[in-house]
Amino acid sequence: MHEWTEETEKLAAGVLQYTTERLHLRPVPLDGPRTPAQLAAEAGATVTAAGIGGSEALRIFAEVLAPACISIDHPRYFSFIPCAPTPASTLFDLVVGASSIYGGSWMEGAGAVHAENEALAWLIELAGLPESAGGVFVQGGTLANLSALVAARHHDRSRRQAAGRALPERYAIAASTEAHSSVGSAAAVMDVDIIGIEPDRDGRLTGEGLARALARSALESPGRAPFAVVATAGTTNLGIVDDLSSVAEVAKTADLWLHVDGAYGAAALAVPARRHLFAGIERADSFVVDPHKWLFAPFDCAALVYRQPELAKAAHSQHAAYLEPLRTGQEWSPSDYAVHLTRRARGLPFWFSLACYGTDAYCEAIERTLEVAQYAASRVRALDYLELICDPVLSIVAFYRRGWEDAEYYRWSEALLSSGVGFVVPTSHRGRTAIRLAVVNPRSSESDIDTVLASLA
Ligand SMILES: Cc1ncc(COP(=O)(O)O)c(C=O)c1O
Repeated sequence: MHEWTEETEKLAAGVLQYTTERLHLRPVPLDGPRTPAQLAAEAGATVTAAGIGGSEALRIFAEVLAPACISIDHPRYFSFIPCAPTPASTLFDLVVGASSIYGGSWMEGAGAVHAENEALAWLIELAGLPESAGGVFVQGGTLANLSALVAARHHDRSRRQAAGRALPERYAIAASTEAHSSVGSAAAVMDVDIIGIEPDRDGRLTGEGLARALARSALESPGRAPFAVVATAGTTNLGIVDDLSSVAEVAKTADLWLHVDGAYGAAALAVPARRHLFAGIERADSFVVDPHKWLFAPFDCAALVYRQPELAKAAHSQHAAYLEPLRTGQEWSPSDYAVHLTRRARGLPFWFSLACYGTDAYCEAIERTLEVAQYAASRVRALDYLELICDPVLSIVAFYRRGWEDAEYYRWSEALLSSGVGFVVPTSHRGRTAIRLAVVNPRSSESDIDTVLASLA
């Protein structure tokens, strides 16, 4: 099985041919889910004692399995947060797989970790954190948020213990009610409370709102200590950026760790004209931005950055007899900075693409998506059967279809997918069902927007 045979040679050609053909498709087919029974019937038994052979397995993938997966890079995939990897990043993903790199430690993956750190350095510079900041590419924004918050709590505990102060009865994280669901999930995993803060009229968490919520929490739950605040730089539902400056001010006064969740939105830091939206991010203790969202890297790739990486290392380093040889004293080992140990060098496809095209190309591609989002908002405003929820701050456009009940939104969404036109799932805003277009694919055009909006008439 590990020998390179003529069969393997054919398989290599087949895999490379499939890959290049898939990358050439314009547009890619949208495709869509099938039932377990359909897939079982069409794919047949694939895992057998004798094996079905590489060519047959690849045929089944190409003809049965891949068409049962929605193409996230389709130009009319506007649901959730899509992903539109560059050809260079996708191709390099193959190289990463072929290179058998252990991306957890400096000793084993120094070259890969160096390149990943170059990519992180660009993000650190965009955010305005000091050069001494550093971090790691993890699987997604969820794991990044959890890892940052674990580091924050560890830091608080260590400081209390060092000062001989008692630990609180309960720990808590302060966050807007509009924060991503992964923040609540991190709190549940960590068994800490959430101090939920209503955003202001524009949907933003502000320093004033944070200060009020902290004061109320101190009165109502005196035994509970907040240790971190999560601000969002680009909410998932509407793309709203919290008032990071005022939140940072209050967080610093209250001696709280400031974590900025820019998993989706912080990519817009690459566009100079939008950078003002993120003023205050430079004061964050940690932030996340996902290259697999709006920075054109394939799944899965989230960049997690710490102002003081040594605080994260203190929280996350794993110690075991068999791991000690990795500790040479000078090493920068990515596994020290999140809740993980073994890791794929998943930042490499992003690094390769950045190196290949240059950062200006990133700025242009993001600007293009912002332009298309603005176009979508202007069309929604102009069409009398639609009602815009708010002007898009970034590249998410949310609106209502006047006169529709919930069920009509869902019927429309299903028909759009089953007809192969597009993938747009409903969301809700303030309890009312709505439509939401997330534009992160530079290949999504004005005419793709027109097609979707026309289908709502
Ligand atoms: C703001 C924000 N934070 C966190 C996440 C979670 O990221 P992931 O799905 O990569 O875990 C998302 C996902 O859309 C997000 O929009």
